[in-house]
Amino acid sequence: MKHLLNITDYSTEELQALIDKAVFIISDPWAYNHSCEGKKLATLFFEPSTRTRLSFEAAMLELGGRVISVTGAGGSSVTKGETLADTARTVSCYADVIAVRHPLAGSARAMANSSAIPIINAGDGGHYHPTQTLADLLTVYREKGKLGGLRIGICGDLLYGRTVHSLIDAMSRYEGNSFVLISPKELMVPPYYTEKLGELGIPFVQTDDLDEALPEIDMLYMTRIQRERFEDPAQYEKLAGRYILDAARMKRASDDCIVLHPLPRVDEISTDFDSDPRAVYFTQAFNGKIMRKALILKLLAGKEHPDNTDLSPEGEKLFRDDTLSCTNSRCVCTHERGIRKEFYTDRHGTVRCAYCDQPVTAAKE
Ligand code: CP
Repeated sequence: MKHLLNITDYSTEELQALIDKAVFIISDPWAYNHSCEGKKLATLFFEPSTRTRLSFEAAMLELGGRVISVTGAGGSSVTKGETLADTARTVSCYADVIAVRHPLAGSARAMANSSAIPIINAGDGGHYHPTQTLADLLTVYREKGKLGGLRIGICGDLLYGRTVHSLIDAMSRYEGNSFVLISPKELMVPPYYTEKLGELGIPFVQTDDLDEALPEIDMLYMTRIQRERFEDPAQYEKLAGRYILDAARMKRASDDCIVLHPLPRVDEISTDFDSDPRAVYFTQAFNGKIMRKALILKLLAGKEHPDNTDLSPEGEKLFRDDTLSCTNSRCVCTHERGIRKEFYTDRHGTVRCAYCDQPVTAAKE
């Protein structure tokens, strides 16, 4: 596919090819150090980042390419009212590939619609974070030697955690996986995911009890409560600090239960667990750079990739309908002027916005 907007843009075969390339790069770090000479990566980060931006930039530099960058909400002409679509069209004149992070769901898709070059979604609000999932997949593969047949615990903010959504999308495609979804009831995973797991016949349970879950799982994916996504700060304060994993608590888990975290962490994993061999979250950050190298190589391989801006995450065909309107205030299409409003009909017959995947609830007059 031309762009990486969601992890489901890639088949499991394509994901495995990226993993295999990454494993090779780890064994021979300089194998591709001239492959991107003459190429430029633009990193457009309208939200803070340490790992994603720097690992993308390090990846491109190690491939022999160069990097141009915009950081912070005020760092580009978007603050003067320029649309993301015009920004993408403009940056297409200066770079060969764009990695974008933005607080609105669907922002990467909005850019892909007008971009002449590949767009990589580096996190769009609380929606998706597919390149974090690439890091997660490589980490599980290297630590467990497989991506299926695992009992996967995911703990914390499953509502706003974009890494969680992309991880479930990815791991639900591997045979034999099951999920233990651990969160307070206020931060349960959006119903779309549990409905999907149910339909696919993938076993899952939802609980708020981390201690009870720990002995049963093969891996634990801890997440931060996403303070920046809460409209009510009091609600965040109520939920913050709900789950704290430490060395004592991890005695309940098996000796080979690995612990991942997309990072940054706040207090949900105590530093007293960092030296435990099951703690793989900093290896995961390293793996992110390697998988981003493999991804850049794939996207800049010189082959013509089919445009994938006309499909939903599940492959449904998008359509335009001026009588429909998305009302999600966190969606790019309620903010971006002149956006091409597009929808799709999911497998239940529900019409959803192509940008944020939320059901369309209101019709225009
Ligand atoms: N995991 C992740 O996206 O980290 P950053 O926010 O630091 O990029």
